[in-house]
Amino acid sequence: MKFFIDTANLEQIKEAEALGILDGVTTNPSLMAKEGITGEDNIINHYKKICDIVDGDVSAEVISTDYEGMIKEGEALADLHPNIVVKVPMIKEGIKAIKYFSTKGIRTNCTLVFSVGQALLAAKAGATYVSPFIGRLDDISTDGLHLIEEIRLVYDNYDYETQILAASVRHTMHIIECAKIGSDVITGPLSAIEGLMKHPLTDSGLATFLADYAKGNS
Ligand code: E4P
Repeated sequence: MKFFIDTANLEQIKEAEALGILDGVTTNPSLMAKEGITGEDNIINHYKKICDIVDGDVSAEVISTDYEGMIKEGEALADLHPNIVVKVPMIKEGIKAIKYFSTKGIRTNCTLVFSVGQALLAAKAGATYVSPFIGRLDDISTDGLHLIEEIRLVYDNYDYETQILAASVRHTMHIIECAKIGSDVITGPLSAIEGLMKHPLTDSGLATFLADYAKGNS
């Protein structure tokens, strides 16, 4: 399973990269705004900085909602760096744009996916990644992980190559459950990824080992 970090915070991206397990980064306009990155030039420069830190796929989202605008923006984003994946919203014009990008060899991430039907269309259009937002479904009392299961089943039925990128991951158990289901990728905050390392028996066991070593070497 690939691990992406879902942030535009350069320090957190560097910290995740230093772990040696990072496969990529996802961003969105809200995450950019959270870091105070506004204006087209600043946003473009920020994508370049992220690509300099991480040797992996970096999702960069188009803002246009019309086909021509998405194509223009997406082609410019793809030109920034070979690792850029153009993030396109799951709307009618977005599906057309994903189809266009797939014929041009430009990789895409179909975002804001909340149903298996949307995921099916994204795969048909040739999306590289599909991003079901599991946390936002959980927020409205709908089982986000069940959606990952359903998409896995449908994609496997037809051997679709589109990779399931479980997005809106909020905590460590989301990652573990996604791994059990067979999600190709998860994207989440650093805290959710770091949570995988934690176990109280590891901490107490290490403390005992170090104390016993100190006794024998004092
Ligand atoms: C995915 O690419 C999105 O950026 C993200 O996962 C959304 O997460 P949120 O629901 O926590 O905002």
